[in-house]
Amino acid sequence: MLSVSGLTKRFGGFTAVKDVSFSVEEGEILGLIGPNGSGKSTTFNCVAGLYGPSSGSIRLEGREIGGERADRVCHRGIGRTFQIPRPFRNLTLLENVALSAYFGQGGKVDRAQCWRLAEQALDLVGLPVDPRAGTDGLGAAALKKLELARALATQPRLLLADESLNGLDQGEMEGAADMLRRIRAERGLTIVWVEHIMGVLMRVVDRVVVLDHGEVIFSGRPAEAQADRRVIEVYLGAEES
Ligand SMILES: Nc1ncnc2c1ncn2[C@@H]1O[C@H](COP(=O)(O)OP(=O)(O)O)[C@@H](O)[C@H]1O
Ligand SMILES: [Mg+2]
Repeated sequence: MLSVSGLTKRFGGFTAVKDVSFSVEEGEILGLIGPNGSGKSTTFNCVAGLYGPSSGSIRLEGREIGGERADRVCHRGIGRTFQIPRPFRNLTLLENVALSAYFGQGGKVDRAQCWRLAEQALDLVGLPVDPRAGTDGLGAAALKKLELARALATQPRLLLADESLNGLDQGEMEGAADMLRRIRAERGLTIVWVEHIMGVLMRVVDRVVVLDHGEVIFSGRPAEAQADRRVIEVYLGAEES
């Protein structure tokens, strides 16, 4: 479904992502992990059109999308969450998600349908569909859910989820991981899930790509990743023998 090949992103003289290649099969959940600053969000932002790649290719179902505008990428079927949720605080939950349904489909949809899509997305992530519910007092877990609902309301085929577990406690993390599985099953989605910790992600993903300093150091099954010398070094800081 998605094929990233030789992706490089430079900010001035600094290379944040260097010659990164990976692919995502339809229907799979791919984990993209690595320590803070390893280039995960930058890779996401290149795929989602927030940044143009310095070089390399990004293909969605065979079609080049590298360098396309974020809104066009969204209309092609890629939904994304942001690592730091920033909802419209003066709007209700439902309005926040309905806006995504409307603009995420290029405004070419019936408005009544947008409210329905918003209700469905809120329901799917387990947030109140009550039209009066606002964003005040939402904790970290609820904000992450709202972020997911906003992405889902754009009706993506491929969902990019950036650090959906960050700031959650263990129980909330388990719940969020199960929710991603459920969303895949119910919506038939393909998911790329970024996280800096391995934890519960490893039990949910089909495959994992590990980044370190902007480069891919491992790609394969979760169980193999946990036994890989370089991955262990990056995560545990083990000494070279
Ligand atoms: N817009 C930017 N301008 C300059 N440097 C950036 C920018 N975005 C990210 N970086 C740098 O690129 C590196 C990778 O960042 P990022 O992709 O956010 O890492 P991760 O998501 O894996 O924590 C970091 O060193 C970060 O400081
Ligand atoms: Mg990040």
